Amino acid sequence: NWSMNDFIDLQIEQIRQTVGDKRVLLGLSGGVDSSVVGVLLHKAIGNQLTSIFVDHGLLRKGEAEQVMASLEGKFGLNIVKVDAQDRFLKKLAGVTEPEKKRKIIGNEFIQVFNDEAQKLDGIDFLAQGTLYTDVIESGTDTAQTIKSHHNVGGLPKDMHFQLIEPLRSLFKDEARDLGEKLGMPSDLVWRQPFPGPGLGIRVLGEITPEKLQIVRDSDLILREEIKKAGLDRDIWQYFTVLPNIKSVGVMGDGRTYDYAVGIRAVTSIDGMTADFAHIPWDVLQDISVRIVNEVKHVNRILYDVTSKPPSTIEWE
Ligand code: XMP
Repeated sequence: NWSMNDFIDLQIEQIRQTVGDKRVLLGLSGGVDSSVVGVLLHKAIGNQLTSIFVDHGLLRKGEAEQVMASLEGKFGLNIVKVDAQDRFLKKLAGVTEPEKKRKIIGNEFIQVFNDEAQKLDGIDFLAQGTLYTDVIESGTDTAQTIKSHHNVGGLPKDMHFQLIEPLRSLFKDEARDLGEKLGMPSDLVWRQPFPGPGLGIRVLGEITPEKLQIVRDSDLILREEIKKAGLDRDIWQYFTVLPNIKSVGVMGDGRTYDYAVGIRAVTSIDGMTADFAHIPWDVLQDISVRIVNEVKHVNRILYDVTSKPPSTIEWE
């Protein structure tokens, strides 16, 4: 009977045979798939693996720290962390069109990764967290033409690496199962999907440090309250967006003119279709009160009650 433990043993054996005494490079995104690949490869070949983690400044609050603490701190991966926030923000300044933002973020990511990879000598292999669904989707021409999805996987063709993709035969839930079997903490393995362009597509329109801050802080509050209410495993994806609307409010004796924050929460199997999650009113109220009280420049909270289709999950 096929079991995940057999799978792990088999993969480790295969990776060792393929790699021999050569070196492997991995692009860590902070997401589940590349993290699982990192831990698996480290188990198989130890320090022959070098990982590059590009912090594009569009990650959620505490995310980069969590990835480093877990993968480097606990599992001992050798990680080159690149703080590229300024580089990305500069490129994105003044850009408002969603697809243009995606392309800029994707291209910049590849360039930063390339720059770092060139500093490393004698690398023959590139590891990727490709899943079975990625294999299928890229095999059809219907795959995501609505939004051009950029993943860490989209590296340039002119890199002369041989690919290692140990998760190619797995679905997402199997990749999570694998991660747990490898001893990874459940809050890392069970994180909700997070898009490659990160908060860059959750700040609608132009991206500025101030707006990123609002999304980051409000998103953390949302995550905390959803967890506290015990809903984190039931809701497939939940996050805040900044729709670039200012409206009038009142605080104390004064008039305010500040941002509205949107809450998006959906149930889904695979993200292709989705229903808006029916978060209880009292939970929504707690979230709303906390965000308005704790996040500067926010005076109004909106809840997105559309399903996909006709909406998409992300607002851009
Ligand atoms: P949409 O907004 O298309 O999202 O309904 C479906 C799922 O895909 C994620 N998403 C992305 N993931 N790069 C990614 O890696 C992207 O550009 C991107 N856009 C959307 C989204 O978070 C949801 O889980």
